[in-house]
Amino acid sequence: MPAQKVVEGVRAIRALDWDLPMFDELIPLPEGTTYNAYLVQGGEKNALVDTVDGRMTAELMDALARIGVEQLHYIVANHAEKDHSGSLPAVLAEYPSAKLVTNSRCAGMLQDSLFVPRERIQVVDDGETLSLGSRTLQFHLAPGVHWPETMFTLLREDGILFTCDFLGAHFASTDLFVTPAVMGGSSIKRYFAEIMAPYRPHVRKHLAKVREMNPAIVAPSHGPLHKDVAAILDLHEEWASENVKNEVMLLHVSTHGATRAMADHLMNALLEREICVRPFHLTRADMGELAIALLDAATIVVASPTILAGLHPLAASAAFLANQLRPKAKILGVIGAYGWGGRMVEQLNGLLSNTKAEALPPVLVKGHPRAQDLLALDELADTIRRKHHDLGLL
Ligand code: FEO
Repeated sequence: MPAQKVVEGVRAIRALDWDLPMFDELIPLPEGTTYNAYLVQGGEKNALVDTVDGRMTAELMDALARIGVEQLHYIVANHAEKDHSGSLPAVLAEYPSAKLVTNSRCAGMLQDSLFVPRERIQVVDDGETLSLGSRTLQFHLAPGVHWPETMFTLLREDGILFTCDFLGAHFASTDLFVTPAVMGGSSIKRYFAEIMAPYRPHVRKHLAKVREMNPAIVAPSHGPLHKDVAAILDLHEEWASENVKNEVMLLHVSTHGATRAMADHLMNALLEREICVRPFHLTRADMGELAIALLDAATIVVASPTILAGLHPLAASAAFLANQLRPKAKILGVIGAYGWGGRMVEQLNGLLSNTKAEALPPVLVKGHPRAQDLLALDELADTIRRKHHDLGLL
């Protein structure tokens, strides 16, 4: 685990995790991730800001020993989730005089999940400061990005803002600071889509707070650090807005080809009408790509056959996930083939209860689509085009 200099007296100790295939057994990690802890040496006292995932505790302890940290006075917990707090028990044991510094809500969570003794915890409130001698930490509560107990820690003299998950990325790289390739790629957006997108109102509020703080460096606890703070804030501002693009997400799955024929016809009809289509074949769709597309799509169309008297389970799973991620979409469509009946549309409406999108009349076909069914799909494409035009997207 490298301990890299951020500025003199501040080191990033980053656990590079190339191997974890899925975060939370849900989110694919095609580019790995990092868990970043930060050592701040303040003249009189030392503080460690966040720790790392419990699986990588030995590497964190080894890095602290190699730096020669004999005394640690404070360990700041910005967030209770175990990818940042998992090593806390080991660090508290290694440095028995160190205090765990965190807010009251996070303190409760850490007592519940890691059995941190109450007497080791120093509770701080919003705006409170902690002197390390020549350096000062200031704590800013940031509930909702993405847990209710999250906070930021500002190293005032250096203008370094430790934001934990906020403004982070699942991207394992030996580069300490972000590169143009990472800024222009999809890993930061993928992280936002999967972790922060459901909390967009909170994100917007905390982006404004970060702008007010005007830090020189943003130091998250996943992925690279940022010196061009305006650039990373601007990216997040766009993703956290409710803006959508002239795009249709087409989530499709088929059993014997009838629904697939409908999905293909609709896709071509939309493309002919100058509407961008993002198709997702649900037997092999990457859920991270799906989450990213949800940030942009004005319309979501689910194409599913009726199976087991309802929605195909893969379509149900994708709709459930999309609903949990609070899609921005303004319009919803459903198409599909059935043999003799079922409750597909009712089930889908129930699964997408978090969206305020307008549901268009479904196009459901008994058996294989005939000429009049293809005309109905053309009419659906016309309706979507008209709606996108009315939204000012065309
Ligand atoms: Fe990276 Fe919410 O933990």
